[in-house]
Amino acid sequence: MRISVLGSTGVIGTLTLEIAEKYSVEVVGLAAGRNLGKLREQVKKFKPRYVAVERREDAERLGGGVLWGRDGLLRLASLEEADLVVMGISGVAGIEPTYMAASSGKRIALANKESLVSGGRVIGETARENSAFIIPVDSEHNSLFQLLLFPEKPREIILTASGGPFFRQKPSVVKIEDVLSHPTWRMGKKITVDSATLMNKAFEMVEARWLFDFGAENIKVLIHPQSVVHALVRMRDGTLFAHLGPADMRIPIQYSIFYPERKPPPSPPLDLSTLRGLEFYPAPPEKYPAIELGYRMIEEPCSLAAVINGANDFAVESFLDGKIPFEKILDVIIGVSRVHKPHPLSSIEEVLEAVGEGRERARKMIEGEK
Ligand SMILES: NC(=O)c1ccc[n+]([C@@H]2O[C@H](COP(=O)([O-])OP(=O)(O)OC[C@H]3O[C@@H](n4cnc5c(N)ncnc54)[C@H](OP(=O)(O)O)[C@@H]3O)[C@@H](O)[C@H]2O)c1
Repeated sequence: MRISVLGSTGVIGTLTLEIAEKYSVEVVGLAAGRNLGKLREQVKKFKPRYVAVERREDAERLGGGVLWGRDGLLRLASLEEADLVVMGISGVAGIEPTYMAASSGKRIALANKESLVSGGRVIGETARENSAFIIPVDSEHNSLFQLLLFPEKPREIILTASGGPFFRQKPSVVKIEDVLSHPTWRMGKKITVDSATLMNKAFEMVEARWLFDFGAENIKVLIHPQSVVHALVRMRDGTLFAHLGPADMRIPIQYSIFYPERKPPPSPPLDLSTLRGLEFYPAPPEKYPAIELGYRMIEEPCSLAAVINGANDFAVESFLDGKIPFEKILDVIIGVSRVHKPHPLSSIEEVLEAVGEGRERARKMIEGEK
C-alpha cells in the first residue's frame, strides 16, 4: 500500500501518518500548506518521493524539487505511484485536488467534506466514470458507509451532531477561544468553527446526500452531546441500527486506509459499561438556521451549496482574523444564500466559479458593514 497525504500537517494528516508509521505503509507524497517545520519532520521520517507546499517561496526554501501551489496539489492528488490519496486539506482548497484524484481513478480516503458539498454531482460522476472509489473519513459518514453494507437500503439515515461548545450555554460575548474549545473532538480551526455554528452538520447533510443517494426527506439530524453514537440508519420496519465508538478520528482513518480489512483498535475500544446517559435531542430546522440551510442545499440546484460553502469559508476566515463577531458568520451566509439564484453545475470550472461567487459576496457583505 502506497499513499499520498494531502493536508499532511493538519489533524487528519498527522493522524494518518501515525497509522502509516504503525503499519509500515509507504508514503509516496506529502502536501501541506505553510507549516514548514512540521512538514520538514514528516519528510525526514517518511522520505516521500513527492512533496508540495502552498507557496512558491516555501518550495524554494525547502529546495530539492518541492512542488507548490495548485499544480503541486493536483500532482500529489494524481500520483501514479499512489494506491490511495488521503484528502485532509481543509476548506475549499481541497475541491480541485479531490476532483483530480477522482479523474485519475484513485481510491480516495476523503476527509475534505467541502469537495462534495460544492461539487458532489460533478465529483461523483467523475469518480464513477474513472472507477475511482471514495471512502468517507468523516466519522458520521464512515459510520454510515459501514451501516449501509446491509443488503437492504434503509428508509432514513440519521447523522448525530455534538451540538458544539454552545449547545447547553452560550456566553453573552463569544471569544475565539470559546469557539475553538470543542467539547468532544480535537479538530482544525475551520471545522471547529463550523461545528459551533452547526454549518459542519449542514455540510455533512449534503455530503451524505452525494455519498449515499438519499433525499432531504430521508436525511435526519439528532443532537447527541456525548459523540458516542456517530450515525444511525432506520430500516423500513422502524428498526434502528447505530454505529458507536470513541471520538477518535484514527478509527475512521484506519478503516478508510485498509477497507475492507479491519485492524486492531488504535485506542481502547468503547466500554459500554462505563457510559452514563447518552442524550439525544431533536435539531429542528426552525430552531437551527444551519440545519435549515442544510436542507435547502440538498433540495435546491447545486450552485447554492457551492456558494454557501464559499461564503462560509470567507466568513470563518474573517471571524478567525477577528474581523467579525461569531454571530455574524451565519448572518453573512444566510444573506449570501438569499441573493444567489441557484442553478445546476455541470463542470468543475462551474463549481469553482460558484464557490468564488460565494466568497466574493461574503467579502462584499463583510467589508460593506465596516
Ligand atoms: N479533524 C477532524 O476531526 C475532522 C473530522 C472530519 C472531517 N474533517 C475534515 O478534514 C479536513 C481537514 O481537517 P483538519 O481538522 O485536519 O484541518 P487542519 O488541522 O486545519 O489541517 C488542514 C490541512 O490542510 C492544509 N492546507 C490548508 N490550505 C491549504 C492549501 N491552500 N494548500 C495546501 N495545503 C493546505 C494545512 O496545511 P498547513 O497547516 O501546513 O498550512 C493542513 O495540513 C477538513 O475538510 C475537515 O472538515 C476533519
